[in-house]
Amino acid sequence: MSDTNESISIVPISEQYIESFHKCLETVASERKYLGYVNAPSLEDTRENVLAHMQRGTPRYIAVKDDKVVGWCEVLPNQGEGFNHSGKINTMGVSAAFRGQGIGKKLMSATLSAAELCGMERVELLVYASNVNAIDFYEKIGFVCEGTKKKARKLDGEYDDVHVMAIFLNPEVPIA
Ligand SMILES: CC(C)(COP(=O)(O)OP(=O)(O)OC[C@H]1O[C@@H](n2cnc3c(N)ncnc32)[C@H](O)[C@@H]1OP(=O)(O)O)[C@@H](O)C(=O)NCCC(=O)NCCS
Repeated sequence: MSDTNESISIVPISEQYIESFHKCLETVASERKYLGYVNAPSLEDTRENVLAHMQRGTPRYIAVKDDKVVGWCEVLPNQGEGFNHSGKINTMGVSAAFRGQGIGKKLMSATLSAAELCGMERVELLVYASNVNAIDFYEKIGFVCEGTKKKARKLDGEYDDVHVMAIFLNPEVPIA
């Protein structure tokens, strides 16, 4: 898979890109396969959420091409005493036309570096067992599967298992 898309920038999300980020989110959600929801939150809810997280310094990077958002990755910190060293990739996605060009890898790298700077040591995520491309992608980054929730999703009459995956950002802390 080549990494030829030089005209794409990977930047932290900012207010000017919220609408375009929302469109990108909506497009990937409407594929009905990959995310935890099939309809994106409303633009207003998205705006509120993004602005609140920007204030808190939550790592959320976007891929921008010709002033349009074509991908995103975010790590939300886990809450509560005892869990502050960890966070979760709530959602990540790249628009269909831009997949397989190295954008996801760049987004993930920027987001995990920012998460580490925020003090996060462990980052976790959920992925559908049917999403073999994403599992392949996460394994290449260094995520490992920690367990599986059986038949955790039932959508359009089809069951899907959900894998729990995680990565430790400090290589001196082995995952097992
Ligand atoms: C999963 C996803 C974020 C990966 O982003 P991407 O930009 O397509 O991935 P990249 O091009 O950066 O690929 C990085 C590596 O992952 C692997 N990979 C990515 N897409 C793949 C595919 N379609 N098939 C096989 N491997 C794939 C590649 O082997 C690549 O490794 P390489 O650099 O050694 O070639 C993207 O495909 C996507 O948005 N998918 C739909 C939404 C989704 O599944 N989100 C995650 C929900 S948990």
